[in-house]
Amino acid sequence: MKKSTLLFTTALPSLTDLGEELLLIYDEVLPRKSAAFKKWSQKFSLKYGVKAGETLKSVDQFPQHIRKIVQLCENTSSRRLTIVVAGGGSVGDFGGFVASILKRGVKLVHMPSTWLAAIDSAHGGKTALNVGGAKNQIGTFYPADKIILSRQLLMSQPEARAFEGFGELLKISWIQGGSLWQELSKEFEITSSVLWKYLARAVDAKYKVVSKDPEEKSGHRHILNLGHTVGHVLESYYKLPHGVAINYGLDFALRYSVQLKIMSQGEYEKISHAPVSGYLLSPLRDDLLQTKASVLKEFRQLLLSDKKKTKSQTLRFVFLKRPGQCVVKEVTVDEVLMEICRQKEDELNG
Ligand SMILES: NC(=O)c1ccc[n+]([C@@H]2O[C@H](COP(=O)([O-])OP(=O)(O)OC[C@H]3O[C@@H](n4cnc5c(N)ncnc54)[C@H](O)[C@@H]3O)[C@@H](O)[C@H]2O)c1
Ligand SMILES: [Zn+2]
Repeated sequence: MKKSTLLFTTALPSLTDLGEELLLIYDEVLPRKSAAFKKWSQKFSLKYGVKAGETLKSVDQFPQHIRKIVQLCENTSSRRLTIVVAGGGSVGDFGGFVASILKRGVKLVHMPSTWLAAIDSAHGGKTALNVGGAKNQIGTFYPADKIILSRQLLMSQPEARAFEGFGELLKISWIQGGSLWQELSKEFEITSSVLWKYLARAVDAKYKVVSKDPEEKSGHRHILNLGHTVGHVLESYYKLPHGVAINYGLDFALRYSVQLKIMSQGEYEKISHAPVSGYLLSPLRDDLLQTKASVLKEFRQLLLSDKKKTKSQTLRFVFLKRPGQCVVKEVTVDEVLMEICRQKEDELNG
């Protein structure tokens, strides 16, 4: 897989550094959030503003978008055109997909504007559209030529978003272990500045995993789903922001790892007593692990619809042995539901 060039910048980049003929696809909230972005975006002669979110990724809406984009680009050359995508993960998935098919593929620059996109979705080359209610059913592997991580653009997010970004940062630092986790574990406060400080290392850790399995063939890339199985269930059921749901899912995965003796009790205590673990959310403490039959039935449906399921009733669950060492094990949907009940009971028994 082609390697993307990563650039960490303070301000927004100069247009001449982006390519010859440029089309900017951007989240239409950005000019409202940042005067600097507004001024910068006005320099593009070709631009296409979109409303972020899952509807943007809907395959039903796609023909309307692509018709307008083709029209906008009618006088551009496929060889010289670069699509610059500025936005969060949904705009990135959409814009990346457009770049991969427009004129049979044009150059692509990602400029993530959310922590989730900066830490995770802009890297690794996956693009996606949704079909019906089902997420990410079609897409391409199309790594960006360049990914520009602009401090100014990321800092245009409200400070509260830093906590959402933390879920993915924590995930990747548990996957990577080593000095990334060692240092992060000592943080007492999670702010945008802290996320920015760890961004380069978090991204590097994701590339380490992706480079071993760029197109998800060997299965290694699957470890990036740590915290995501139950995280996705809670995200859908309680309509939580993705990063918050993943944070809960990580706590569940940790406890499940101890229960199956994949992680030792000592290791678990070391992690839970780390200063940064004050920011780890517990679905038990917040009463999200419901064991009422009607709720479990919905959880079961959500687990089954998760695309990570292998055979009909089996999931490949990512456990943690210790930071730096994940273990993937097939478990049944019923086993996950039983673990939800067990954790709940454990908590009730104090
Ligand atoms: N391709 C991948 O590998 C991959 C990985 C993980 C997630 N994803 C996808 O990413 C999407 C979620 O990512 P997201 O949360 O970044 O989504 P998003 O693009 O929907 O952005 C979330 C919200 O933040 C707003 N926003 C964006 N930048 C802002 C800024 N600077 N200031 C204020 N508001 C801003 C958006 O308008 C939107 O309302 C999902 O569609 C998911 O499927 C893709
Ligand atoms: Zn995620």
